[in-house]
Amino acid sequence: GAASGNHDLRALIRTIPDFPKPGILFRDVTTLLADGAGLRASVARMAEPWEGHGIDKVIGLEARGFILGGAVACHLGAGFVPVRKAGKLPGKVLTQDYALEYGSATFELHEDAIEAGETVLIVDDLLATGGTAEAGIALLERLGARIAACSFIVDLPALGGRKRLEALGMSVHTLVA
Ligand code: PRP
Ligand code: ADE
Repeated sequence: GAASGNHDLRALIRTIPDFPKPGILFRDVTTLLADGAGLRASVARMAEPWEGHGIDKVIGLEARGFILGGAVACHLGAGFVPVRKAGKLPGKVLTQDYALEYGSATFELHEDAIEAGETVLIVDDLLATGGTAEAGIALLERLGARIAACSFIVDLPALGGRKRLEALGMSVHTLVA
């Protein structure tokens, strides 16, 4: 559609070396999110492949996945469900530890957020090692969700996340490598 347009999303992403640790090339999407046309195009390009695919819920991975996930859910007329870092969700939760490119963390998901058999789309800003997305997948699979795909703005192919998620049988959709 018109909203997805011919915008150079790559040019709107800023790279900051040695953040948050020495040796990490941090791909900073705040500059893309701050650009109205860039944000609109990103959300449209993430959502459009799943129009008419019966997505019940969009799953956003804390924190940058919330920004995009809420907008993608709105675009699709789907609900939004957050996967949160430990200790933030007030109801009964499932818990999953994981490692990412520069650390480790714990994710939680409300156990009543998804009904078995519902179709979900996982959304985050960036795929690096895939550890974060795999933790989200594990939580959703414990609730019996059908995962249509995992969608990201940025893929960092050298870190192997796409291969890791595809080896789990996931469909992976990214906008910029
Ligand atoms: C970043 C990014 C992804 C994850 C990707 O999140 O937003 O969620 O790392 O890395 P991986 O593929 O190696 O797992 P971060 O944990 O820095 O959290 P934030 O979104 O709360 O800033
Ligand atoms: N999350 C994991 N690795 C990252 C990177 N290189 N840039 C931004 N976010 C990340």
